[in-house]
Amino acid sequence: MIKVEGLYKTLGDQPVLENINLDVNQGEIVAVLGLSGAGKTVLLKHLIGLVQPDKGRVIVNGVDFTSLSEEEMLKVRCEMGYLFQEGALYDFMDVYDNVAFPLKEHTGLKAAEISARVREVLKLVDLEGVEAKMPSELSGGMKKRVGLARAIVLGAKVLLCDEPTSGLDPIRSRDISDLIRHVSRQIGSATVLTSHDVGNSFRIANRLLIINDCRIAAEGTARQLKESKEPFVQEFLQAATS
Ligand SMILES: Nc1ncnc2c1ncn2[C@@H]1O[C@H](COP(=O)(O)OP(=O)(O)O)[C@@H](O)[C@H]1O
Ligand SMILES: [Mg+2]
Repeated sequence: MIKVEGLYKTLGDQPVLENINLDVNQGEIVAVLGLSGAGKTVLLKHLIGLVQPDKGRVIVNGVDFTSLSEEEMLKVRCEMGYLFQEGALYDFMDVYDNVAFPLKEHTGLKAAEISARVREVLKLVDLEGVEAKMPSELSGGMKKRVGLARAIVLGAKVLLCDEPTSGLDPIRSRDISDLIRHVSRQIGSATVLTSHDVGNSFRIANRLLIINDCRIAAEGTARQLKESKEPFVQEFLQAATS
């Protein structure tokens, strides 16, 4: 589903990512961990074609991004759901219109069909009866849920979540993490999330990787990471759990 091969990226004069390789299959959740500034968001932006690699390739659903025109890229992007770090809801639209927006923009669905689909995805993210609320009336956790609903409303089979638990308290962090796992299973997506929330990432991800010094310092299941001999990995995990 998602494949990254030998990706290198320098921004300004600073190398950010070096020799990143990644495979994510349908039905799998992969967490990308690392310190702030490690390059997690930059990696995620490559997966949606907002950033192009200096070297290496990104292939999603069999489509190599390297040779795509902007128009083709837009089409591919419609098949991917992206939950931005800050939710990125339109402040001037209520919940219903936020979630309906991609359907109005990119499909020829009739109003009744749009309404049915919006209700369906809001139900999937466990939000009902909030259609008329404005984003400013929602808690942080609810905003993330609406962002998640909007990300999947077009039927994405690839779900990318940037720091889904940032800014949330521990209970809401756990809830949104569980919800991402639930939604990923329901839609059968290949899911990549970035996080520095080790506990929740360990709980919901099938595999994890840790980026440090531009490179993948360790990769594997939670158990494999815990057994890693890499000093940075041990320090990172200990700092996160102490
Ligand atoms: N557009 C940009 N121009 C220059 N440097 C950038 C840009 N975007 C990100 N960076 C740098 O790339 C590094 C990785 O950033 P980022 O991926 O946002 O880290 P994080 O792991 O916290 O998500 C940081 O040092 C950041 O300053
Ligand atoms: Mg980030």
